[in-house]
Parts: sequence; structure tokens; C-alpha cells
Amino acid sequence: MSSRVCDVLVVGGGIVGLTAAWRAQEAGASVVVLDPSPGDGATHAAAGMLGAVMETGFGEEGQARLGAASLALWPAFAAALERAAGLPPGAVGLETAGTLALAYDRDDLVALRRLLTLHSGWGLGSAEISPQEARRREPGVGPRVAGAAWVPGDHRVDPRAVQVALSRVVAARGTLVPHAAVSLTWSDGAVVGALDETGTAYAAGTVVLAAGHASGSLFAGAPTRPVPGTTLRLDAGVDQAPSVVVRGTVQGRPVYAVPRPVRPDGRREVIVGATSDEREDDHLTRAGDVFGLLRDVRALLPELDDAVLLEAVTRARPGSPDNTPLLGWAADGLFLATGHHRNGILLTPLTAAVVDQALGVAPGVTLGDAAAVAAVEATTRFADPRRFADADSTIEGGTA
Ligand code: GLY
Repeated sequence: MSSRVCDVLVVGGGIVGLTAAWRAQEAGASVVVLDPSPGDGATHAAAGMLGAVMETGFGEEGQARLGAASLALWPAFAAALERAAGLPPGAVGLETAGTLALAYDRDDLVALRRLLTLHSGWGLGSAEISPQEARRREPGVGPRVAGAAWVPGDHRVDPRAVQVALSRVVAARGTLVPHAAVSLTWSDGAVVGALDETGTAYAAGTVVLAAGHASGSLFAGAPTRPVPGTTLRLDAGVDQAPSVVVRGTVQGRPVYAVPRPVRPDGRREVIVGATSDEREDDHLTRAGDVFGLLRDVRALLPELDDAVLLEAVTRARPGSPDNTPLLGWAADGLFLATGHHRNGILLTPLTAAVVDQALGVAPGVTLGDAAAVAAVEATTRFADPRRFADADSTIEGGTA
């Protein structure tokens, strides 16, 4: 059996794991990332909505607080990542243009109004506008839409571009090992490393568990579950595509369309999503899911009928019992960065700020002092991984 030693071993090479790896490198750590297929989990399907407002509903104030704290960090995070990767400004596709929320029928409008009232009680900005005003902002809004709201603070980014940038940064200073971890290694109640599928043992001062919904199979104190979602990628002319994120409900069913920046050929990708299921993660796309997403998005944006269907992809979000992340120390030597559920992309800079604090990167170096401190405080309140632990039990070796 071969063995390797590093300061920080990150299990999982999606956007969350690579962010943790980057921040650990910034703290001066030697870093190894274990993932058989980096970026091919939830990151691969993510549309990149930064929906700090519209992704939160009743009973989800914790998610709303975390989302708002993380959203405030996104501009500094994107700029720091682009610089570190040697990419031009804008390369990760962050666009702060707001979001248009649509209600297809009168019942959808009643539900939208209830949501706006909830958000205004939390101090989150959104305002009802008329369908005419919605059409002035987005001429492609369909004729049957019953109502709308403008959400100025919900934005978007390109998750696959973020993944590429993070891979460049992390690979330049660390090692990406294309194998899966099969177990954590414990000693005297502390995590001291992990074993991969080839039998290689890794000894590490800190293990960051960022294996998405699979985290729970390595550590029972990370009660994650797969929440598969399907997204579609369309290629549309600028006249057919929305210019901002459009999300809505069609007879109670949620759907969204997230445009990417316009390319030099005058066309743009539009990501349409997303289903949300409670089943195993088989990466298989159901025909009915593709039908349902297209049926609903064309009810809101009929001009998308002329777009070209490029891709349908299904990957599982990492859910937790309260659908809020597990972000922080879970045991000596074990840091959790998982359970981000529907908001892995939104919460990536928050994850960076929490890892910075845990590993000793000075706040403000890349993320901005006050905002980073606020983000970390919000995390302590809502995302402490120990909130699910039974105080009388020791969780070790994958069983509770
Ligand atoms: N954040 C959008 C989704 O998970 O579908």
C-alpha cells in the first residue's frame, strides 16, 4: 500500500471542494484533492443562479441569511479567482443584472405575492411589477403571464467557467488525484487522513469533506442525501433569449431560464431548469422531465421554441436534513463543506470565507473584511455541522 502526506486533503473536486482547496493553498498548505471526475457532480448541472432572494421560501430564513451573506462576497470572489487563474475580468461569467420573476396564472400570482411579502419581512428586496412592465424589461415574456416581480439582487454566474478557473488555480500548486476516497482514517477520535479506491493512504493534518451528497457515506455525521435535478442547455439567438434570469411558476410548477453572456456570433446559451427529485443519483435524464421543463419554460418565454437543444444533464444536489449546508469543523481534523443543496454556487464565496477563517487566511485578502466577517457569523448560526449530532454519541469511522 502506497502512502502520501499533505497538510490538507480535500475529498471532492466540485466547485465547493476546489474552492476549499484554493483557500487552503492561500493559507500556505500543501493540498491534495481526491475526485475521480472533478466537476462532474452537481456543479456540472448547475445553472448558476445566485438566487439569494427567490431561492428561499417559508421556513428557510437560515438559507436566506446565508445566501445574502454569500452574494455580497461574489464580486470580490470572482475577481480574486480570475486574477489567480490568470483569466481576464468577466471570465467566470458573473453578471449582476437582477432577476425577473413571473407568475403564469392567477394562482401563481397569489403564491408569488405571498413570497414577496415573506421576503420583504426579511428585508430582501423585490417588488411586484405589471406584466406590461415585465415585457418592457424582457420582450420575450409570453402573452398569458398573469403577473411579475423584479428582484434586483438575484444574479448569475457560469458554474462551469468557475470550475475551470478553480481547476487551473488548484492544479498549479496542488495535486488533483483522479480517484475516489473510500474511507476516512481515524486515530484517537480525530481524522488523520483517508484511503482511496486504489488502496493509497493519505495522511493529512486536515481533511475537508466536500464530496457532495456522497459525503454521508464517508462520515455519518454528514447526513447528506442526493436530490437529483435536470437542466437543459439551449442555444438561442439574442432575440429569442432573455437577457436576465427569468424564473417563475406555471400552474404551481417552478421553472427558470438563466442566460449566459452573448457570444461574438450573437447567440447565447440559456440554461433551463430544474427538476428536483428525491431518488438515487443515476445521472439518467427522464424524458418526462425534459418535456416538463420545455412545456413550462415556453409558457413563460415562448420565443425559446426556436432555440436549439444542446444538452440535457441530470446530477444530484447534496441535500441535508434542513437543506442548509454543513460548513465547519465536525471533529478534530475533519472540516465539512457539503450539504449546500440548491445553493452550492451561491454559497461558494461563503464557503471560501469560512475555510479562510478555519485555516487562518487573513480576512480581506481576497474577499473583503466586513462582508467576510458577516458571512462567517451567519454560518456559525445556521450551518454548524454539529447541529445534527447526538450529544451523547461519538461519530467515527462512518457510523454514528
Ligand atoms: N439553484 C437552482 C437549483 O438547484 O435548481
